[in-house]
Amino acid sequence: MDISTAKSSKTVVAEAPGRINIIGEHTDYNDGFVLPAAIDKKLSLRLKLNGTDSEVNLTANDLNEQYTFDLKDFHPVSLGWPNYAMGVVHELQKIGANLSGFDAGFNSDIPIGSGISSSAALECSFAVALNHLFDVDFDNWQLIKASQLAEHNFAGIKCGIMDQFASMMGKKEKAMLLDCRSLDFQYFPLQMGEYRLLLLNTNVSHSLASSEYNTRRAECEEGIAILQKANEGIKNLRDVSLGSVLAARNSLPKHIFKRCHHVVSENQRVMAATNALLEENYVLLGDLMYQSHYSLQNDYEVSCPELNFLVEKTLSKGYILGSRMMGGGFGGCTINIIENKMIDEFWDEVSTQYKGHFGIDLSPIEVAIGDGARVI
Ligand code: GLA
Repeated sequence: MDISTAKSSKTVVAEAPGRINIIGEHTDYNDGFVLPAAIDKKLSLRLKLNGTDSEVNLTANDLNEQYTFDLKDFHPVSLGWPNYAMGVVHELQKIGANLSGFDAGFNSDIPIGSGISSSAALECSFAVALNHLFDVDFDNWQLIKASQLAEHNFAGIKCGIMDQFASMMGKKEKAMLLDCRSLDFQYFPLQMGEYRLLLLNTNVSHSLASSEYNTRRAECEEGIAILQKANEGIKNLRDVSLGSVLAARNSLPKHIFKRCHHVVSENQRVMAATNALLEENYVLLGDLMYQSHYSLQNDYEVSCPELNFLVEKTLSKGYILGSRMMGGGFGGCTINIIENKMIDEFWDEVSTQYKGHFGIDLSPIEVAIGDGARVI
């Protein structure tokens, strides 16, 4: 085989997982704290040089859809999934990657729209695979940030860094506390004795999800601008104490006060939850999860009837320690801490009630905590 044939037949296989988040919702883009973990549901991607200068052929095998674009001239498109791949290509090119034509095909067992970051998995798998295929040698944080910016610039969602971080840096049986300002992080053991984490997928994804996400981000910025008038040292909600939010209640529009109150109190809950995990105090952890849910429902207003119904159904169950909506909101999953031996009984009851109430099937997602993105 001559060198040019060897080069054009070079193939890279990579995979990247979805994520859960134990607690710390809508705190990441406020420079706060999050406590996510990567899961064993993942996206597998195969990349191969195709010998052209700039033609890229993408195939979503599960959807049986294809998309072709030119590396020299491409833009966001209305078909959703190609944007995540093109976005990563674009961001890597921006920071100096020199790419040539390739073919890419992927499969995934991460349910789409369920709030467990199928899109971050797609971005991160492309980031690690392209990095390897073209010997670019970017470090993990460059790949994480390129994946996040792909979502901003090509998918139009001004997301924080949590999902791409978790998909890239996850470790088996470990949760991760990330400081979204300094980007320092720490792994924590996540073995819960007789308890398990159970996700319940509402199978709804309300159309508000992306527009309201960006609105919430803007509302936090509006809150900061007002709070800065009293204290110039504040950069964002990370710098604000609960006492000063409460003290500023009358100078903030009501909905802005509620957004700030959620973010500041949620940061406190993340720190308390981390201690609870370390002390194996799952009762306290569960309680913090309920508080988080009600804060997201009432203050941040990103929940929906389906998620609230599922959380309410856990309240009378002594074998469930905590439950809350997970991710951006307006659909997706709840995350629950439940006694292992009661999972089947709870599932039978809640899935029947959910179907009866909404006419929609509920899906359980059993997850184990897995490793982050890698080239195989
Ligand atoms: C989405 C975003 C994350 C984060 C969560 C809410 O998953 O992608 O950056 O903001 O919502 O916590």
